Amino acid sequence: MDLSESSALKPLDRLSRPMRDLRLSVTDRCNFRCSYCMPREVFGPDHAFLPKSEILSFEELTRLSRIFVGLGVEKVRLTGGEPLLRRDLPVLIGQLSSIEGLRDIALTTNGSALVQLAKPLHEAGLRRLTVSLDALDDGIFRAMNDVDFPVNRVLAGIDAAVEAGFAPVKINMVVKRGVNEDQIISMARRFRGPQYILRFIEYMDVGNSNGWRMDDVVSAREIISVLQNEFPVEPVAPNYAGEVARRYRHRDGGEIGIIASVTQPFCRGCTRARVSANGHFYTCLFASKGHDLRALLRSEMSDDDISQSICAIWQGREDRYSELRSAATITQPKAEMSVLGG
Ligand code: GTP
Ligand code: 5AD
Ligand code: SF4
Ligand code: SF4
Repeated sequence: MDLSESSALKPLDRLSRPMRDLRLSVTDRCNFRCSYCMPREVFGPDHAFLPKSEILSFEELTRLSRIFVGLGVEKVRLTGGEPLLRRDLPVLIGQLSSIEGLRDIALTTNGSALVQLAKPLHEAGLRRLTVSLDALDDGIFRAMNDVDFPVNRVLAGIDAAVEAGFAPVKINMVVKRGVNEDQIISMARRFRGPQYILRFIEYMDVGNSNGWRMDDVVSAREIISVLQNEFPVEPVAPNYAGEVARRYRHRDGGEIGIIASVTQPFCRGCTRARVSANGHFYTCLFASKGHDLRALLRSEMSDDDISQSICAIWQGREDRYSELRSAATITQPKAEMSVLGG
């Protein structure tokens, strides 16, 4: 193989960014109705979720992942909706584990089914787990998930994950002004120590349905200053170039992260490709439309042909939404968070 051929196999986009991470949504359904993601006014009983025939099968997901790995992807993160609602998910993990060159398989979940699934997922080969949890206070948590789900069941799920061997478990907390900002300290206290890495996420204007306003964002700076009142924290170097979270360490040990995509965008290092449950390829979390890969997978096209199509899409990519965010971009149509999985 000559050099020009091998560089075509590892495409760079128009801002010279390689493709390193693939975020695969395995379902558009969720058992929660967090108002910042799937508000029940929009995702009510009549909402049309994808029928099974439109969702990529495990074989299609594995084939696609293998093709993406050929183009430079090293990490696959399974997302949803809520990925653990997808039946037999450990079977998919097993299939993905056999892909040569795929170094890292991770999953982001709301934790509601971890008591049952943490162990089977670990046994199937999953090694990294992130749990979304916005509050420790039961009343605030039930109001935020909007399905009256008790916080204790998620906490028991996190315990099950640690027990199954997932430590350190990452905990994602979206901070929304006037809703859960008073939980910052109690969350930091609860998830201090080597078993956890707590990350605070600035509330983002994803999708079209959450009624986002800048006033609702609690900035990374504010979060750090709230934390400093109680725990001295100091910055730590990133684990890898383009890491989403800025890392901090408690002076006496333990790590936290802040994901400041609103006030300190990180588009320059964005190496993330996203595929929705129905097989559409999105080059940005804020893209309005995806490219239909399912049609290609279900055609007679070979892996090489599909790989070339993906390569061409990536080479044309120039997304940097968070850097360009303005009053005008906020109202433009975007895919929903529950379709893209964050
Ligand atoms: P690791 O570093 O592999 O542990 O994972 P991660 O931090 O990339 O993954 P995670 O899914 O936990 O990301 C945390 C959150 O950061 C997501 O849920 C999003 O809210 C946000 N996020 C992740 N990637 C992007 C991105 O490309 N753009 C923006 N704007 N936000 C992102
Ligand atoms: N802003 C920031 N983060 C969000 N998430 C969902 N919606 C938003 C939003 N509007 C986060 C969830 C979860 C991940 C999948 O995305 O809390 O951790
Ligand atoms: Fe479900 Fe996660 Fe969206 Fe909440 S943020 S509705 S748990 S997908
Ligand atoms: Fe990547 Fe788009 Fe997020 Fe910027 S806004 S970091 S380009 S996904």
